[in-house]
Amino acid sequence: MVCPPMISNNHMYELGNTMEKDGLPRYTPVDENGAHCPRRRRHIRRSIFRLAILTCLTYTLYIHWTWERIYGRPDVKETLTTDKLRTDYETCGRLRTVPKISKSARERNARYVDGHSAVLIRNATTWTGEPIHKSDDGYSWVQADVLMEYGLIKRVEPGISESELPSDCEIYEANGRQLTSGIVDMHSHVTVDPLPSLRGWSDDNELSSDITPYVRSLDGINPLDHQLQVIKSGGVTTSLILPGSGNNMGGEAYVVKHAVGKSDGRSEISAEDMLVDPDKTWRYMKMACGENPKSVYGRLGRDFGPFSRLGEAWYFRHAFEQATALVSAQDDWCNAADTIGVENMQTYLPQDLQWESLGALLRGQVLLNTHCYTIPDLEAFVRHSNEFKFRIQAFHHAHQMYLVPEILKRAYGGRPPAAALFADNMYYKAEAYVASEQAGKILFENGITPVYVSDNPVLNAQHVVFEAAKAYRNGLPYHVALAGVTSASAELLGLGERIGKVKPGFDADIVVWDSDPLRVGAAPAQVWIDGTPQFEEPVELNKPTSKPLERGTWLQDVKETMSEQRDVVISGVLRILVPGYEETLDAKASVVVIRNGSIICTGSCKTESASAQDEGAEIIELHDGHIAPPLVAFASTLGLAEIEAEPDTVDGANNDDMTSRAVDGLALDTKGLKTAFSHGITKAISAPVFKYGGYKGVSAGFLTGAMHAHEQAVVWQDEAAYHYPIAKTDKTPSFSAAVGQLKSKLLKAVKSNETNTLTEERSLKQVVLGKMPLAVTVHSADLIASLLRLKAEVEAAMERETMRDGTAIRMIIVGGAESWIIADALAKANVGVVLAPFLAFAESWDQRRSLTGAPLTNGTAIDVLHTAGVRVAIGTSEDWQTRNLYLAAGIAHANGNGDISEKEALAFVSTNIYDMLGLRAKHSSQVLDEYVVFEGSPLEIDSRVRMVADGSGKVALWT
Ligand SMILES: *[C@@H]1O[C@H](CO)[C@@H](O)[C@H](O)[C@H]1NC(C)=O
Ligand SMILES: *[C@@H]1O[C@H](CO)[C@@H](O)[C@H](O)[C@H]1NC(C)=O
Ligand SMILES: *[C@@H]1O[C@H](CO)[C@@H](O)[C@H](O)[C@H]1NC(C)=O
Ligand SMILES: *[C@@H]1O[C@H](CO)[C@@H](O)[C@H](O)[C@H]1NC(C)=O
Repeated sequence: MVCPPMISNNHMYELGNTMEKDGLPRYTPVDENGAHCPRRRRHIRRSIFRLAILTCLTYTLYIHWTWERIYGRPDVKETLTTDKLRTDYETCGRLRTVPKISKSARERNARYVDGHSAVLIRNATTWTGEPIHKSDDGYSWVQADVLMEYGLIKRVEPGISESELPSDCEIYEANGRQLTSGIVDMHSHVTVDPLPSLRGWSDDNELSSDITPYVRSLDGINPLDHQLQVIKSGGVTTSLILPGSGNNMGGEAYVVKHAVGKSDGRSEISAEDMLVDPDKTWRYMKMACGENPKSVYGRLGRDFGPFSRLGEAWYFRHAFEQATALVSAQDDWCNAADTIGVENMQTYLPQDLQWESLGALLRGQVLLNTHCYTIPDLEAFVRHSNEFKFRIQAFHHAHQMYLVPEILKRAYGGRPPAAALFADNMYYKAEAYVASEQAGKILFENGITPVYVSDNPVLNAQHVVFEAAKAYRNGLPYHVALAGVTSASAELLGLGERIGKVKPGFDADIVVWDSDPLRVGAAPAQVWIDGTPQFEEPVELNKPTSKPLERGTWLQDVKETMSEQRDVVISGVLRILVPGYEETLDAKASVVVIRNGSIICTGSCKTESASAQDEGAEIIELHDGHIAPPLVAFASTLGLAEIEAEPDTVDGANNDDMTSRAVDGLALDTKGLKTAFSHGITKAISAPVFKYGGYKGVSAGFLTGAMHAHEQAVVWQDEAAYHYPIAKTDKTPSFSAAVGQLKSKLLKAVKSNETNTLTEERSLKQVVLGKMPLAVTVHSADLIASLLRLKAEVEAAMERETMRDGTAIRMIIVGGAESWIIADALAKANVGVVLAPFLAFAESWDQRRSLTGAPLTNGTAIDVLHTAGVRVAIGTSEDWQTRNLYLAAGIAHANGNGDISEKEALAFVSTNIYDMLGLRAKHSSQVLDEYVVFEGSPLEIDSRVRMVADGSGKVALWT
């Protein structure tokens, strides 16, 4: 006989206090279920026998109990009350309801609170979200005024005259700036995983069981999560709050608006008041397949799982089977009550809270969003949808979806699930290792809707619109990319008649932007939710009014084929931005001639061009060509780690006792490195990882485009810096101990002899001598202050020891989320900062004072540090971000209030790093043999790399 599957209540997990990168806590499973089902121990036959009897007894009781629970006991009719039967019959009505949001005009928004003025936004360049003319794709920007009253959009048309306005109407002058509907993020954990992440207020995964369709994110929504406001400062007005992906069935989800309490136009601070639709017309649910559930629940030798995708499929199917039984028992009861009259029913309506929500899903009342990455996951889930007849609204993460549009079209319900994607966050775990930046474009071309989501805090949802922007950059048509964070997402939430468009009758959720929303650095000037302005004193960056992006279709013609060339003649180049070679060209009359990988001539170059062509040079014509300096990735794990969550693919992590040199662990020719190279990042300086966070050891500088570490000149700097973490570990259980330990090591190094061969002591000696930079991974302003004191003390000790003035430790802060707070002290101490990530947010406690930028704060850390004269650079905190380093520079430039030039912005990701490390960018000869050829400006979203030359004598060309 088979044991009934144990799928609830019987397992306990002790929560560890560390978070994995994917946001799942670590667990120590405690099996309290040992005796429930026979284990395979053949030598203890007697106990097996006893256990079997016990199990059969349990199972019989279980069946009996389940049967009674669902079908009732026929002999209890005399105890039934008519009132309850009638109530049950009313429930039948609800069970049969098909949710529908009425299209008919509303007088007021159910969320409108009396006393709020009407608002006229005058003279906005408006994106309505609908095609407005017949040509082309029909979408375009229009000049319009937008009138909002009672929480609804009343009119969208040009030239609304003041005489037509309601009496207390406020007027907001948009001055031609761009206006869209509020951004809709279909995948967020804000409020159930509040920031900064702390154990006590994390409520996103109900890990008491793998199958918990019966829990609700609403019960954990914390309206005081400040991240709600940060996200809103990126124009996001609506988010779907999903439970996490630790469970195969995670529970019910809720759509909220980012308006909390009186200041945001609500009457009180309440999660219920945040719900988009007070009537809760639609319900939502989250499921997840693949690595997460099996890694949380699968434990070898235990009686619970799922351990594999095979097990996950069974857990899914078993749960759907329970819900199917409930639904059909209820339908039988309701139909019988219809026929014989409810008073004559012999039992009450079968109800079961455990399977109620899943039953509602089978009844078509719940919109289901499922986290599935891989083909097996997608295909299995599509099978479940057909076996149990339910629809899937969207697959999330879904990196492999672009490979299998036909599988998706087989899903139940006639419409293939949409894809809720990141634009380019990939490779971090095995199931994310097959992925494409063109996924959105390919899916769209195959009739599948792509939408872009944050999975906040995985990505800071403040910047979810940047995901759509990158999708546009990667070939998705402009209107589809923008729909992917507005109207398409709204549609998938069943709210397509309420939000996501700027149209009379819709909720008055509006953003006026400081530039095209898909441009780098775009930030709202103001945000309205249900007609109420959300920022009392929004900081507006000093940014010239700019036209909408051209929406060039040239980006859709993706250039995928890479070839290696030595000789190329390029036309259409407008500017050369490489330091020392800056030039503006007449694009029509000029060419750039490349021989053996070096630029030998720019301008008319008649002779050079002719001879190159004679010798078979490639001829390339560019759209808006730019030649930029190549960039360097500092303090990533490129070259040391490929799939971060897979130990076999990484160099490993050093502990308290161990330190190493990155150069000894380099493993090249990886997808991560190829991606960096193809995005113009030709060099990386990577350091060994520390087990408890940060880096520990000596970093190495190498070329990203190399096949292996033995190629000539691949490693151009075998010892770049000594990296040291300030982290709580077994040996240094407190931050104070970690700083103290570093200080005593440095003071020891002051006295020691350089000849010592041990890596750490030798490196620290180099550090105190000022020969090797000391790169410390740290975010907290207070810890940075401790490090500045440490630096001064060690320098003083060194001066006493050598009886000489002027030895200085070359300290670099890596991370630096809060470094802006002590910018002046950093400048004075001549300590450089590598911001990693570039745009920090309060992800962790030590980053809680991050500056998140306009409209909430005046600039971000880079602005404060730059103004204070700190030498500053941009690094990455996760390797996938490397590909966006030019765009990061673009954001710094666009949002720098005019204080950060293009040249300075590019220096943040190139020369500033070399300068901090005391390295020289190569350029020994007169020739320009390291450069990146772009179509479009490298600092703008509508650009792409066409050629990369890394000084090896060849150029990589994409056609
Ligand atoms: C709208 O704003 C733009 C930019 O400030 C300005 O040039 C134009 O005259 C304005 N139009 C109206 C109707 O006010
Ligand atoms: C923001 O800071 C800059 C200096 O960094 C200053 O010039 C500007 O006036 C500030 N803007 C606001 C709105 O405070
Ligand atoms: C390119 O390099 C090859 C091999 O080093 C050399 O023979 C050739 O002359 C070079 N071509 C030019 C144009 O410099
Ligand atoms: C350093 O080396 C010198 C001679 O080279 C020696 O006299 C001295 O004791 C050494 N100091 C230490 C701390 O090892």
